[in-house]
Amino acid sequence: MQVKNIGVFTSGGDAPGMNAAIRAVVRTAVHQHVNVFGIYRGYEGLINDEIKQLTTFDVANIIQRGGTILKSARSKDFETKEGRKKAYKNLLKHSIDGLIAIGGNGTYTGAKIFSEEFNVPIIGLPGTIDNDIFGTDNTIGSDTALNNAIWAIDKIRDTAAAHDRVFFVEVMGRDSGFIGLNAGVAVGAEAILIPEILNDTKLLLAHFEKQKKREKMFSIVIVTEGNKEGNAIDLANIVRDNFPYLDIRVSVLGHMQRGGSPTAADRILASKLGYSAVNALVAGEHGFALGIVANKIVQTPFSEATQIFSCFDEQLWKMAKILSL
Ligand code: F6P
Repeated sequence: MQVKNIGVFTSGGDAPGMNAAIRAVVRTAVHQHVNVFGIYRGYEGLINDEIKQLTTFDVANIIQRGGTILKSARSKDFETKEGRKKAYKNLLKHSIDGLIAIGGNGTYTGAKIFSEEFNVPIIGLPGTIDNDIFGTDNTIGSDTALNNAIWAIDKIRDTAAAHDRVFFVEVMGRDSGFIGLNAGVAVGAEAILIPEILNDTKLLLAHFEKQKKREKMFSIVIVTEGNKEGNAIDLANIVRDNFPYLDIRVSVLGHMQRGGSPTAADRILASKLGYSAVNALVAGEHGFALGIVANKIVQTPFSEATQIFSCFDEQLWKMAKILSL
């Protein structure tokens, strides 16, 4: 039976480009003569019936905006069977017979359980700045967040150089060093700490030991939020204790990385994925996440897409070490 009413929602940490994906979903659905319902605040809104039909005009003038017009949330209730039952009732209430879930790993896990439990057709789209989703080269929002980080670190470098200071800059990434490593390469950081690499504090101390012999006093050290051996403040303290003559400052970039206008890459990725998701649902295909690998749209079953995945690029890591010598 052909899908007639699609629901779309964004869930988990917001990511720039989610609006472009919503716009693509709505406009493609309208083109396919399918109704679209916006579900607000992710799974929470599905449980609480925060659902409203969207028209093509509702998604005008949003492609360039960060955040998500549908808002986002991390839902504890949806982890319970009771919560999911309520969500299913609301789907029936609005006759929604297909869902497009935009988010990260938690969103996909929810989609997998829900689709299996109630036989709901769902397609997932990867939306997270962490770029840690299996089945896609890039997630929606990761390019913008990386560029946001670079924009900020370039400015920090100016003031670091002016004062001959060492700056520990903390970037986002709970388990993923995507922003840390890539921003580190792009800004020419002297040291990069990411969750995927252990025993790095030793290397960091060795780096400053070596620097003693050099004239350059200023450095940028990138520390990823999820670094296993401490955050930027912890590591700055360790280095300060060992090299008391260094003038050290810490800057935590935080959520500014997640906001702002999406880059061209994120807008285009989100548009392609939103468009493809609706077409797949209309063709009767579901139960997977969509991604783009080597420029081709790929479908990855939720059972695979939900696996813990790291986009850690060892070659890039090795290169970064050499280029920062
Ligand atoms: O998953 C994206 C992310 O920005 C992570 O990098 C970060 O650890 C986390 O979300 C922060 O979550 P919250 O905004 O809920 O504090």
